[in-house]
Amino acid sequence: MDNQKLSPKGCILVTGGCGFIGSHTVVYLLNEGYDVVVVDDLSNASEKVLDRIDTIVGDDAAERLTFVRADVADKDALETVFDEFDIDAVIHFAGFKAVGESVTKPIEYYSNNIGNTLVLVDVMRDHGCKSILFSSSATVYGDPDALPLTEASPKKACTNPYGWTKWMIEEILRSLTIADPEWNVVLLRYFNPIGAHPSGLMGEDPKGIPNNLLPYVAQVAVGRRDAVHVFGNDYDTPDGTGVRDYIHVMDLASGHVAALDWMVGRTGCEVFNLGTGKGTSVLEIIRAFSAACGRELPYVIEPRRAGDVTANYADCAKAREMLGWEAKYDIADMCRDSWNWQSKNPNGYADSNEA
Ligand code: UD1
Repeated sequence: MDNQKLSPKGCILVTGGCGFIGSHTVVYLLNEGYDVVVVDDLSNASEKVLDRIDTIVGDDAAERLTFVRADVADKDALETVFDEFDIDAVIHFAGFKAVGESVTKPIEYYSNNIGNTLVLVDVMRDHGCKSILFSSSATVYGDPDALPLTEASPKKACTNPYGWTKWMIEEILRSLTIADPEWNVVLLRYFNPIGAHPSGLMGEDPKGIPNNLLPYVAQVAVGRRDAVHVFGNDYDTPDGTGVRDYIHVMDLASGHVAALDWMVGRTGCEVFNLGTGKGTSVLEIIRAFSAACGRELPYVIEPRRAGDVTANYADCAKAREMLGWEAKYDIADMCRDSWNWQSKNPNGYADSNEA
């Protein structure tokens, strides 16, 4: 059975489409007129996000969204999806992403992240779908020699298995384009995605104690945690705390759509940084979030966290020039939207009463 496309734009398979970046990208794709099939096993995401997506995009656009609950490593399930839908391209988000956990569970991380990618591209090839956009990370740059990071900056050693899976999957996908010139691969290297949908209906909802700065700060703001732990104030940065290029998840989502539009009719492998080009320190984030939530957030200085780099931020010229894309939201917007989401959903999607 071939599912008739509702949209002339095309049909995009989004693996991990219920996750933080995936869900925001799905909203953008639906709003741009794409048909979307989400494959997600909900191992680290809530099905409730689908109701939120429907609310944001409205009934008509929501009709172009199909959800399939399956693990991307489940080859039979994936075959069924490709048999039923005429998939034009894949955006591949699905993967384990907790850095610390990856150190203690390397087998699970390598096997899941790399294994599911291999199953995915195998099934894609069998169905003649050879366009894939991969969710990579600035982590592949390791400890940078020079800033800002351009796409030509060398890939360097990662400090954890999670990072290595991104590093290796990039190489796996690049190899496909060398073996078969019909493959069309885009590697998007995200800097630090934060923020939330401006409606407050979707945002980041980490399970357990957040590893990343922003969700932790947001949980302090909402009273779930006592104080932010600042990992090191003796770095060679203006205020001694780590500097990162934080990017609003809405900008990241629009970057995927820009890349997808750019990919049409192309082949080969191209890499793009998705960042803002601006570095922000941990203390600047705490100040910006304090302003957004209207109270001074407490913090304590702790020792450095193993594996952290001093600073990184992107050179965004390539995406600007080739994709016509650049980030629009600033740190104040990111903290405002993060706070809007967290204050309306103090316990994330668990608060939701929807079915
Ligand atoms: C980390 C991962 C990166 C991954 C990204 C996902 C590493 C080296 N990097 O980036 O691969 O793609 O998460 O978003 O593992 N900080 C605190 N207190 C906290 C948490 C963080 O001070 O409670 C500091 C960190 O030291 C760092 C900054 O905040 O300077 C950002 O940390 P985080 O949000 O965890 O992101 P990265 O480590 O940059």
